[in-house]
Amino acid sequence: MTTKSDIILQNINGALKNKKLYPSGHIVLDTIISKTYRAITEYISGEESAFFGMIEEEMVFDDIPVMDANDRFPELLGCLKKKNVEAIIFEKGFSEEELKNVLNTLYSDQKTTALEMDRLLRAKGVKRIKIRAIVKGERLTIEIYDDAIEVMHSVMGDLRMGKIPNSSGIREIVTEMTDTILTDPSSIIGLTMIKDYDDYLYTHCVNVGLLSVSIGKIMELDKTDLTNLGIGGLLHDLGKIAVSEDIYKKTSALSGGEWEKLKAHPIVGSDIAKRMEGLDEAVIRVIYEHHMRYDNSGYPKADIYTKPLAIGQIVCVADAYDALTTLRVYQRRHLPIEAVKIMNGLVNSHFHPGVFSAFIKLLGVYPIGTLMQFPDGNVGIVTAVDAAGSGDPTVRLILDDKGREIDHEEEITLDLNAEHNFSVLSPENTISKKINISNFFKDEASKEKEATEETTG
Ligand SMILES: [Fe+2]
Ligand SMILES: [Fe+2]
Repeated sequence: MTTKSDIILQNINGALKNKKLYPSGHIVLDTIISKTYRAITEYISGEESAFFGMIEEEMVFDDIPVMDANDRFPELLGCLKKKNVEAIIFEKGFSEEELKNVLNTLYSDQKTTALEMDRLLRAKGVKRIKIRAIVKGERLTIEIYDDAIEVMHSVMGDLRMGKIPNSSGIREIVTEMTDTILTDPSSIIGLTMIKDYDDYLYTHCVNVGLLSVSIGKIMELDKTDLTNLGIGGLLHDLGKIAVSEDIYKKTSALSGGEWEKLKAHPIVGSDIAKRMEGLDEAVIRVIYEHHMRYDNSGYPKADIYTKPLAIGQIVCVADAYDALTTLRVYQRRHLPIEAVKIMNGLVNSHFHPGVFSAFIKLLGVYPIGTLMQFPDGNVGIVTAVDAAGSGDPTVRLILDDKGREIDHEEEITLDLNAEHNFSVLSPENTISKKINISNFFKDEASKEKEATEETTG
């Protein structure tokens, strides 16, 4: 017997199949989408909502297993698996336009994951159809971030006590970091905007680890390289343990002796790493090479290895970006877009051109953390970038034309091909001086944490 849910799934599967054959807006597609819309609306007329999705590899519709889904709905099943979608939830009152947007995003060839899909759809005004992602281990990115900071504290703490740290905790957290970056890159980049002035060395190391893996992901590196990048990024400044804080926080020029000490940190760090068990040779090299520039003008001089490793060059780019966007005793904080501009002038000298172009692809033209003002006077901050596809930024509106806070969390996605009706705020702008980007992302993360605590009781 064909049930109502079968009819809905048949229609959605049909729509996805036809999307391969017809362009968006074609009458065949529109007809089938209308049919799907009517079928779902009828189904939920007596309920508040309906959902279908995957539970442990099995397709379900409102908690009831769907028989032979592999044979009957292959297109739909393929899309759900590819995009890591756990469920698509339809709430009463959703519109046909919302459904069209969801099916378009679901079928798109871009490597958009479920979490990114949900964000993109919300920015397009889709409010009553939600995409839930399969989350490995159900951990929030901020929890993983906080744990990574903890791991760095314990690594440095061991070293201070003269102990050689164990690498298993580092490997574990890097595996989690890498998995999260593969599913939700934007929220990770947002977290790297959190800069803790008092905890500089630790936040810097974690940020560099996260940014490095994210660049590696864009370069489509394999899992082993990504893991080595993450570990190398976290441990790149290990050698700073031998440099007193007074030296690396000094505002005036360093004396010859102080500079020599600071310059030795890649060598000291790689020597420590050699004594740690379970680290790949590549990690040791990343630590040794992270200040070696593309044109060989950095330090240490390349006398041991002939050519720096590509993953070392990735850490080099991530390191420079995080340092530039952080407030230091001797430097004001640069806005993301300014940092990119400065770094752009150093491609082919400091930075490897291929690595740098992957980095630009990751950040987009308007990187996460960029402040924008619109013609109506509203001010927003970029919170996500479609790095796998168009590069379009999603902007959260934070201040109205009178400078009052907007707290209803309105987000818009700018179509860079069409819209250029905004200006990027410079660091000298009085409005941008009032906005603390680090605090914004910190608040975002804690809001997410609170929301999860509420739902999990
Ligand atoms: Fe360094
Ligand atoms: Fe560094």
